[in-house]
Amino acid sequence: MVQPVLHILGIETSCDETAAAVVRRDEQGRGEILSNLVLSQTADHAPYGGVVPEIAARAHIDHLDRLVAEAMKQAGIGFAQLDGVAATAGPGLLGGLLVGLTTAKAIALGHGKPLLAVNHLEGHALTARLLGEVAFPYLLLLISGGHTQFQIVGGVGRYHRLGSTIDDALGEAFDKVAKLLGLGYPGGPQVEAFARRGDPQRFSFPRPLKGRKDCNFSFSGLKTAVREAVNGLGALSEQDVADVCASFEAAVADTMADRLAMAAQLFRAAHPDVASPALIVAGGVAANQKLKAVFEEAAARHGLALIVPPAKLCTDNAAMIAWAGAERLSLGLTDDLGVAARARWPLDQTQAPVYGTGKLGAKA
Ligand code: KG4
Ligand code: ZN
Repeated sequence: MVQPVLHILGIETSCDETAAAVVRRDEQGRGEILSNLVLSQTADHAPYGGVVPEIAARAHIDHLDRLVAEAMKQAGIGFAQLDGVAATAGPGLLGGLLVGLTTAKAIALGHGKPLLAVNHLEGHALTARLLGEVAFPYLLLLISGGHTQFQIVGGVGRYHRLGSTIDDALGEAFDKVAKLLGLGYPGGPQVEAFARRGDPQRFSFPRPLKGRKDCNFSFSGLKTAVREAVNGLGALSEQDVADVCASFEAAVADTMADRLAMAAQLFRAAHPDVASPALIVAGGVAANQKLKAVFEEAAARHGLALIVPPAKLCTDNAAMIAWAGAERLSLGLTDDLGVAARARWPLDQTQAPVYGTGKLGAKA
């Protein structure tokens, strides 16, 4: 179906990346990234071993205006040529969300453009469609520092969560293991690098929830097992660190293979008519090579077409927010200027947190 061409500015400030991007959606619904700028605050937060909300919010204020101007310049268009302004409205750290959403509202109001208040998770969920033709429904595995969940993506605004973590997010588990071992932040890439030189069988860490007939995850027990092993070792040699990392990664890989098998089964039960559904893996942890091999094997085994967007679009960025805005605008789903930022905002709003603890809302 021929649709109007859309140019959308996207803004992302939900965590520790300040990001602005412009994307184009053509008459056939195909996407093109005209600019995509991400300013990481990792160095600002590194001394604290994690993201400090107040530092993040101030850094967004300091850099966002310049980043938006640069994104528009690189895209080669002016505000008047935009068809909409999209910003992450949640979930995330409220201070940062307010900076991005308020900036988007000001641009939308000043230039008479529609506002699109985007759910950050919807940005991750729809990224694959920015890169190529991917038909609904598909299976999404989101594994980042704040989120770990399976979703059936049925359409724009149509999500069904198959499972999520009941405690730590997977990226958070990597970061905590890195911290225990005295490695830097963010820990995922460091754990992966050490794991390459380690023995994955030296420690037999638990495989959380393995064999369970659902799609949930749990990583806090695994993290505790790692802590106990580390405490038992006393002073750590380089080889000890490598062996702990390799054994931890092996436990995660095993768990992931098991959870993927369950997710594939649940997807097929929900959509028996879809011959070869796509499996999209998004989030920073998707960059892990050992896990990528697990995804490839699982996709082949369960008849799924694996898509792992390039790292730059897997981790937090504003192109995915602009694209989600474009998809929403093409369906007429715009937002009022009074829309509020939301620290918690599950994608699938009809579903209660998995175990009703309320804790999952923060991660969802
Ligand atoms: O998606 P992301 O950039 O930011 C959000 O959390 O939203 O994900 C960052 C997370 C961090 O926890 C980081 O340690 C983890 O992704 N990560 C990795 C790797 N690269 C990044 N975890 C495992 N292996 C990696 N190579
Ligand atoms: Zn994210």
